[in-house]
Amino acid sequence: MMSATSLPLVICLGNAVADHVFHVDEVPQPPAKARARSYSLGVGGMAANAAIAVKRLGGQAAFWGRVGDDQNAELLTDGLRDEGIDIQGMHRVPGARSPTSAVLVDRVGERTIMGYRGDGLGTDPSWLPLERLKEAGAFLCDPRWPEGARHALVEAERLDVPTVLDGERSETRLLLDLVPLVRYPIFSLPGLNNYAPGARPADGLRKAVSEGVTRMAAVTRGEDSTLWMMRGEEKPREMPAYRVQATNTTGAGDVFHGAFALAVAEGMEMEEALRFSSAAGALRARDGDTPHREKLETFMREYCTA
Ligand SMILES: Nc1ncnc2c1ncn2[C@@H]1O[C@H](COP(=O)(O)OP(=O)(O)OP(=O)(O)O)[C@@H](O)[C@H]1O
Ligand SMILES: [Mg+2]
Repeated sequence: MMSATSLPLVICLGNAVADHVFHVDEVPQPPAKARARSYSLGVGGMAANAAIAVKRLGGQAAFWGRVGDDQNAELLTDGLRDEGIDIQGMHRVPGARSPTSAVLVDRVGERTIMGYRGDGLGTDPSWLPLERLKEAGAFLCDPRWPEGARHALVEAERLDVPTVLDGERSETRLLLDLVPLVRYPIFSLPGLNNYAPGARPADGLRKAVSEGVTRMAAVTRGEDSTLWMMRGEEKPREMPAYRVQATNTTGAGDVFHGAFALAVAEGMEMEEALRFSSAAGALRARDGDTPHREKLETFMREYCTA
């Protein structure tokens, strides 16, 4: 067993969201009153979910980001601390309101999200403890705090720390700014369409790998395969998705990204890292919960022989 200090550290910067999750039979159309089968309140948000995935899958994780000074901030700081995540870089902004969302999960596990981005969180990244990047095996960010992401990405590259972007749905200009600063941008389908509006996925990925420090770009497509392309390649390669019965797909992409960043920090090759992340995303979609390493390894082993 490695000692705790030798486990690779992944620093995750971006969004922490208090997710109010309602399990419903279906999302009513047109709007009507309906009953939820169950309800839970917990930590969500791309970078926060990714940090939890890193920790559960066997790495050390630190979260860098901003929350308000409301009840949701308590929930977020307690939730991440209880997972064993380093939250020294979690900034509580006086007078601000934390991001929160209402998540409606239907019978087939598809989710509808109403996200509130918070208020008064500020944009200044100068307080970030960038000196800690030199301890990191990888740095991961999402596009919800672009000033913070840019600030840390530039320093990470200077220190030769591998970087990953969750290229989620976002303004085109933000993605155009961030993607060239990232070695491994991994988009969702809507995110890739924001980055390269109207382009086919292969063309969007080719654009990403032809700019800046990018070495590999990928797009996740839920239960369909992930497409990925190395710099200099013409056509995307495919990493098949694991076939599972999904119960709740919320956060599958976030967990995929956390798993990928950890895999990079552990020194895995691209294909192996993408397979590992696909398995982590699939288990999250199947169980509605982020897997621990042992469960993931058993799943991958058994899936191969099934
Ligand atoms: N239904 C599913 N079956 C198998 N694997 C899945 C399923 N949903 C997600 N995954 C795995 O998780 C990865 C990320 O999922 P997806 O592409 O849906 O992310 P996303 O659109 O960013 O969603 P979110 O941000 O809500 O987590 C997929 O590439 C796949 O490997
Ligand atoms: Mg996503």
